[in-house]
Amino acid sequence: MKFFVDTAEIDAIAELNDLGMVDGVTTNPSLIKKSGRDIIEVTKEICAMVTGPVSAEVTATDAETMIAEGRKLVEIAENIAVKVPLTWDGLKACKVLSDDGHMVNVTLCFSANQALIAAKAGATFISPFIGRLDDINLDGMELINDIRQIYDNYGFDTEILAASIRSANHILDSALIGADVITAPPAVIKSLANHPLTDKGLATFLDDIKAADIKIL
Ligand code: G3P
Repeated sequence: MKFFVDTAEIDAIAELNDLGMVDGVTTNPSLIKKSGRDIIEVTKEICAMVTGPVSAEVTATDAETMIAEGRKLVEIAENIAVKVPLTWDGLKACKVLSDDGHMVNVTLCFSANQALIAAKAGATFISPFIGRLDDINLDGMELINDIRQIYDNYGFDTEILAASIRSANHILDSALIGADVITAPPAVIKSLANHPLTDKGLATFLDDIKAADIKIL
């Protein structure tokens, strides 16, 4: 499973990247706003740091302008994936940009039928939003499962990029289902290392190290 980091914060990406845990990065207008940075400048910095795909999202809603924006975004670096919304115009832009040989991430996916039609339009990645479905008492993980089944039934190459991940359990369930990629905030990725029994066990070991005056260096 590939790990993408869902942020435009350079320091947070660098910390995980140094551990070899960053297979790519996803950004969106809200994350760019949060960073306080210019979209082109910050995306360029991220692309220079990370070798895998870096998703940068268009701002237009009509296909023609989305295509023009996408063509500008791909000039930033070779590893740009143009992110377009799952609208009819977004699908048109997806088809043109993917036919041009660019990676396209189709975002804001909330149904299996949307994922099916994005694959037909040549999407490189489909981004189903788990957390936002859970927020309205629907089952985000059921969507990941349905898309996995549909893509496997027909051998679609589009990669399932599980997004809007809010917890370690979302990552675990995505991995069990077989999502190709998860994108999560840095804090959620780091939380995968946590377990209370690890903390408890370490506390006991530290007590014993002190009691027995165990030294290595
Ligand atoms: O990159 C899009 C997605 O991951 C957003 O997540 O938490 O804002 O629903 P969230």
